[in-house]
Amino acid sequence: MNARIQAPRGTFDVLGDEALARQGLEEHSRRILEGAGYRRIETPAFEATELFARGVGESTDVVQKEMFTLDGGDESSLTLRPEGTAPVCRAYLEHGMHKLPQPVKLWYLSSFFRRERPQKGRFRQFWQVGAEAIGSDDPGVDAEVVVLLAELLEALGCRGVRLRIGSLGTPATRAAYREELQAHLRSHEDRLAPEVVARIDLNPLRAFDSDHPGTQEVMAAAPRLLDRLTGDDAEHFAAVRAMLDDVGQAYEVDPTLVRGLDYYTRTVFEFTSDALGAQSGVGGGGRYDGLMEIIGGPHTPGIGWAAGVERMLLTAGAPAPAEAPLDLYVGFAGQAHRTAAFRLAADARRAGLTARLELAGRSVKGQVKQADRSGARYVAILGDDGTSLKDMETGDQQTVEAATVMHHIAKAGL
Ligand code: HAM
Repeated sequence: MNARIQAPRGTFDVLGDEALARQGLEEHSRRILEGAGYRRIETPAFEATELFARGVGESTDVVQKEMFTLDGGDESSLTLRPEGTAPVCRAYLEHGMHKLPQPVKLWYLSSFFRRERPQKGRFRQFWQVGAEAIGSDDPGVDAEVVVLLAELLEALGCRGVRLRIGSLGTPATRAAYREELQAHLRSHEDRLAPEVVARIDLNPLRAFDSDHPGTQEVMAAAPRLLDRLTGDDAEHFAAVRAMLDDVGQAYEVDPTLVRGLDYYTRTVFEFTSDALGAQSGVGGGGRYDGLMEIIGGPHTPGIGWAAGVERMLLTAGAPAPAEAPLDLYVGFAGQAHRTAAFRLAADARRAGLTARLELAGRSVKGQVKQADRSGARYVAILGDDGTSLKDMETGDQQTVEAATVMHHIAKAGL
């Protein structure tokens, strides 16, 4: 026998109940986001590598280590999308969406690709639900997107969810703060983890993420960006917080909240769940007021979030959702009745019922058993002596004309 080929590492097949659970998640997402005026967007699975290199940032792990870059032939380099914000912003510019009433509110449910080491809740192809509101820097938009994600997690029954928020200020504030932090790190270099030292120039903020004890001690005494915000940024953050307080949204201010992508300005937030292991981030996002310029557009503020579908479902510990109920199971006694049975199933579906046709060559007894196992309300078995129609709920059975099966079912109120 030839060697069997398996799904690539860090990928998975979506089967059975898992597919139903995802469908439920999609319906909740649509209801909540479209109810708030978000419209669905789909962008290509791959984009110019340049979009992510510039948009997500050269110094991020995503760009440095995790991109699946394709051989684009004579095209310029292409990369499977590791995230959705840069592509949505690219589409906003490409389709002149600045002409629409602002903010333009878009949502997506798509798959993304990162070459990460697979573990529980971390995959190389994963799905995200995301929302982006582009064209307004009003703090009300920040508060609204946060509340929408909270609402989605609640609707899905996600357990142990906590929200942390912070503010990164503007690039100028960040640059000054960065220098201050670099000086602090350099003056304590001997106590830091080697990988933190290696990143002092490129990404000193990531030092807050380290679980190295010496680094953690140094970071406890490090200057905090939140204390360095300018008047405007501090005011913006205070306004976001006031609105969250107003609607009773619980959160914790985390002055060291760092996100793995470079485009953030001002508000950042992350929902974590205690029900997850090391990969505790369920969803997160923030403001990206400078991203449009980085990818070649005019200054256009924006904010959004993305939440991992697999992680949301893991924390929801969802009970297996019910399949759509089956109204009619159509069987037949003898091949001569096969075509008529096929027709009856097709007619039933056209009339709006759910119907399934016997396809496995079972005996009549086997067919009734299978209908029962499928949870069918009615079984119709076409045979030489007419059609036997059984109501599986009451056990009533009668012989009717095949052409009148629908009529009998309709009479019962289905
Ligand atoms: P992110 O934090 O990189 O943000 O990803 C958002 C969510 O996607 C994470 O919280 C996690 O649930 C899920 N996720 C990320 N990587 C993986 C993985 N390898 N396996 C499984 N799930 C994963 C973004 O992607 C930003 N685009 C969010 C955003 C939108 N910011 C503004 N707008």
